[in-house]
Amino acid sequence: SLVPVLLSGGSGTRLWPLSREMHPKQFQPLVGEKSLLQATVERLAGLPGMAAPIVVANEEHRFMVAEQLRQLGAEASAIVLEPVGRNTAPAIAVAALQAMAGGEDPLLLVLPSDHVIADPAGFRAAVQEARRGAAEEGSLVTFGVVPTGPETGYGYIKAFAPEGAPAEGGVRAVERFVEKPDLATAQGYVASGDYFWNSGMFLFRASRYLAELEAQAPAILAGARAALAGAKRDVDFLRLDREAFEACPSDSIDYAVMEKTRAAAVLPINVGWNDVGSWSALWEIADQDPDGNAHHGDVLALGCRNTLAWGGRRLVSLLGLEDVIVVDTDDALLVAARERVQEVKDIVARLKAEG
Ligand code: GDD
Ligand code: MG
Repeated sequence: SLVPVLLSGGSGTRLWPLSREMHPKQFQPLVGEKSLLQATVERLAGLPGMAAPIVVANEEHRFMVAEQLRQLGAEASAIVLEPVGRNTAPAIAVAALQAMAGGEDPLLLVLPSDHVIADPAGFRAAVQEARRGAAEEGSLVTFGVVPTGPETGYGYIKAFAPEGAPAEGGVRAVERFVEKPDLATAQGYVASGDYFWNSGMFLFRASRYLAELEAQAPAILAGARAALAGAKRDVDFLRLDREAFEACPSDSIDYAVMEKTRAAAVLPINVGWNDVGSWSALWEIADQDPDGNAHHGDVLALGCRNTLAWGGRRLVSLLGLEDVIVVDTDDALLVAARERVQEVKDIVARLKAEG
């Protein structure tokens, strides 16, 4: 069977003020009526042989996770709670160990819970294809997206050139995986046409991931093991042992495993993937009027171009603006130049520093 592992530990600071520590973006209905987490669960419907998902989340968010699953009528096989964030390598390790607890060794489909995929049927077809690669070759399969620019916040994947015939679809072995390169390097990669963006979704057998972790980052495996061994059941939740998990090194799967493993593979996908990493990314996928304005809630924009206005409880109105983002919430208002939305995280850092 295939066990979805939903990663729900991020705090999405670049979507402030909508996304907050206590209410990060995966729990918000950014596109459509369902939250991004709920859309991630629903997207899996119709895939054959799917087990109930394992959700790994911060303990502060446990009631939101449980409530949002309940709204869908979906049941998790486990909601694993992290007392602190230790990034994705430990989170996935705990899920892999938990998935193997019953004596099985299933394939895991690791999914960020805060991405948008415009073509769910195409996504499901890709999962089926990746599944074969992971099962037959024992690969750690990534899903590659054709880059549209030299974004430095992504992993870059170079596949071995296919022999003979020009590239077709299908899972290909990876020559190189580089997480978050600097700008000049990313520009070179994009210009070469040889690289994909890593979408952040993975498919591999549980034991395969753990074996890689054992080889590349044994302290993370040991930390995850100890945290799960000391975990306590609490109604619907599985609470990791605080002391053990705090002692676990913090690292992402990308740095800890994917950059180093020789077993990586990539399946190119074209399914309208977007990680909604900024207000500008949300503007891009939102319904826009002919002048490029996107609205959410009660908004009136006159003489504007390429704006995003996200309303809250009151009317928001924009006049004669271009390339501006306005986000109105009950206790904070953001007005930002569209090309500088990546710096919203600096506002959050500043607010945090000032308490
Ligand atoms: N449970 C848990 N615990 N989940 C976490 C944690 C954690 O400590 N940290 C992050 N996550 C979740 C996030 O909520 C998100 O859904 C996913 O794991 C990826 O984490 P990000 O923090 O968003 O990673 P990133 O955006 O810097 O980079 C990753 O995604 C890119 C694509 O969006 C990498 O995989 C890149 O290579 C990739 O290009
Ligand atoms: Mg991300």
